[in-house]
Amino acid sequence: MSPRYKVVVVGTGIGRAHLRAYQSLPALFEVVAVCAAERSEAQTCADEFGIPLALEGIDEACAADADIVDICTPPYLHAEHASKALIAGKHAICEKPLAGSLHDVDALIAAEAASGRRLMPIFQYRFGHAFQKLKRLREAGVTGRALVTAINVHWRRRAPYYDVPWRGHWQTELGGALTGHAIHALDMLTYIIGPVRSVYARIATRVNDIEVEDCAAVVLEMADGSLATLSLTLGSAPEESRHRFVFENLVAESNTRPYDSSGEPWTFTPDTPEAGAAIEAALAGFTPEPEVFAGQFARYHRALATGGPLPVTLADARASIELLTAMYASAATNRPVELPIERNHPMYSGWQSHWLNAEPDAARLRR
Ligand SMILES: NC(=O)c1ccc[n+]([C@@H]2O[C@H](COP(=O)([O-])OP(=O)(O)OC[C@H]3O[C@@H](n4cnc5c(N)ncnc54)[C@H](O)[C@@H]3O)[C@@H](O)[C@H]2O)c1
Repeated sequence: MSPRYKVVVVGTGIGRAHLRAYQSLPALFEVVAVCAAERSEAQTCADEFGIPLALEGIDEACAADADIVDICTPPYLHAEHASKALIAGKHAICEKPLAGSLHDVDALIAAEAASGRRLMPIFQYRFGHAFQKLKRLREAGVTGRALVTAINVHWRRRAPYYDVPWRGHWQTELGGALTGHAIHALDMLTYIIGPVRSVYARIATRVNDIEVEDCAAVVLEMADGSLATLSLTLGSAPEESRHRFVFENLVAESNTRPYDSSGEPWTFTPDTPEAGAAIEAALAGFTPEPEVFAGQFARYHRALATGGPLPVTLADARASIELLTAMYASAATNRPVELPIERNHPMYSGWQSHWLNAEPDAARLRR
């Protein structure tokens, strides 16, 4: 019989979306406790979701009678909280960004290996049905070579969003719109196309009065030789996410719902009738699984139960943090940056202090 894992959810912001996803999979997971910085906050959320226990602080979460600690705390706490969960002998799930530097990700990789437990970073956008169809077309060899990919992350965040004290600061949010918002679209890019060879990025703070960037333009050269561009802003009314993958044999275009762009519908336009037949044949056996957070958790359950591969790995999160490092290094030097980022790179231990000290330059880019 398939095990039913006991989970503690730590954090009640996006943690509520995690709770809904677990509760949609009652045969796989039982949420035994909700945890927050203050017990009263955890209690309110526990009451809302009918969860028996409200905990205060990560140490209570790690001591709970549970198999999995799911970390939905602010970014600057992720590395510390994930490592505490592993040391306590729990499996862990951690929201994005996993950490603020390659140094901290490498420490987590070592901590996971030493613990005998499994740490899964969150990249739930991978698990929309339409996007999974694209993955299937890619794996079946139907797409042919990648040519270019164009991505728009045009979202809207105004001053009230930054009332939460950790947001908007290099030391607590760890980065701006690249780190907090476009991280999903960039993961979707590498999930389909593969690793990045080099990157050229410009960042600006033009929407809100914050330390970190809220606009960016990025050019990426992928390891397979294809090219990609990202246009990013948090100042767009209306909001949209748009992913347009151009391959030799087909063009894949997303829907443009900002927070559900990996769901149906996408269009797959074949270049020839033969490519059209190949798309139809490859998608004929497509079996939809749960989507988004529930999709990632259902696959996590399978990985834990069978010892199979995690649906999102520490290597995936490392690639994401490496790309962030490269983009912030490129923006700092106004030059393209080649990957991989080595241990002796000046930003291997983080990009935040550079940008904190570069604040007058960032301010010049504002209106
Ligand atoms: N995957 C996504 O689509 C997505 C969406 C939104 C946010 N996020 C990420 O989720 C994380 C949380 O974001 P949010 O918007 O929910 O933040 P939030 O400020 O709304 O919630 C943070 C939660 O962490 C709790 N917390 C803080 N310190 C704690 C501690 N020491 N011990 C226990 N609990 C503690 C707080 O009480 C609060 O409940 C961020 O990293 C953010 O980037 C991801």
